[in-house]
Amino acid sequence: MKNYTLNNGVKIPVLGFGTWKAQDGEEAYQSVLAALKAGYRHIDTAAIYKNEESVGRAIKDSGIPREELFITTKLWNSKHTYEEALEAFDSSMERLGLDYLDLYLIHWPNPKPVREYGAWQKRNAEVWRAMEDLYQAGKIRAIGVSNFLPHHLEALLETARVTPAVNQIRLAPGVYQTEAVDFCRAHDILLEAWGPFGQGELFQNPAVQAIADKYGKTIAQIALAWSLQEGFLPLPKSVTPSRIASNLDCFDIELSPADLDILKNISGLEGGAPNPDGVDF
Ligand SMILES: NC(=O)c1ccc[n+]([C@@H]2O[C@H](COP(=O)([O-])OP(=O)(O)OC[C@H]3O[C@@H](n4cnc5c(N)ncnc54)[C@H](OP(=O)(O)O)[C@@H]3O)[C@@H](O)[C@H]2O)c1
Repeated sequence: MKNYTLNNGVKIPVLGFGTWKAQDGEEAYQSVLAALKAGYRHIDTAAIYKNEESVGRAIKDSGIPREELFITTKLWNSKHTYEEALEAFDSSMERLGLDYLDLYLIHWPNPKPVREYGAWQKRNAEVWRAMEDLYQAGKIRAIGVSNFLPHHLEALLETARVTPAVNQIRLAPGVYQTEAVDFCRAHDILLEAWGPFGQGELFQNPAVQAIADKYGKTIAQIALAWSLQEGFLPLPKSVTPSRIASNLDCFDIELSPADLDILKNISGLEGGAPNPDGVDF
């Protein structure tokens, strides 16, 4: 699989395997193992997914050398302080069974427990300082954020010593966050696309089906090709072995400019990108 190069020079496989809702235990373990066997080398998890232990076990049992893998996890919303962020990192690493991490992300910029105190700028600056210290100590190869809009990034950059390498946001055909995309491109922050299948909604969309039929591909493969051609890093999730394998068959698709545009603008998806200043968790 090809790589993107992050703004600190670290290489990251252009597509990652999503694990949200992959149940801890057999489901998460078997799906990550199947993904690694199929050729994925980049796994996306988070403390809140509560499956880091199963993900870590699958990584270990795959027998793939650690340096060939790229592993991401995320700091959850309840961690507000420098100390809490350091402790959360250690707990994630223990569950994953890893001695270094490739990418650590602040999961949400302004979640409910922070909003109640009205201090998201201070909280993000503080947990970012903890992540910078872990990065500079060599425990993490790159640090980034998730669900940040331009105003969250601008505030963070006021005190940041390290520019985020990544912003992981919801992006899919029909879900395009133009302002965040433009801001990240201008600041050399790689966009990772969560929910690249519209969290399943794309599979019922006739406009996407028509394009899939035209290229002789599945809707999933078309959605991933669109994301890659936009320069995003899609994170497809599946716990179904046949889908895990077939979703990877997306690298030879060349969508025309007209089809890229149709996909960007399709309507009918109910679940747009959530407002990070209003999330209820
Ligand atoms: N940073 C954040 O706040 C955030 C938020 C959400 C997600 N994420 C990350 O992004 C990843 C992807 O997002 P997501 O899991 O929400 O949604 P998604 O990848 O857009 O969609 C996953 C759904 O698509 C189904 N699916 C996968 N391949 C398919 C295929 N070929 N044909 C038909 N159905 C297929 C899956 O079913 P089966 O599993 O049953 O096969 C699952 O129901 C997550 O797993 C997580 O790692 C991050």
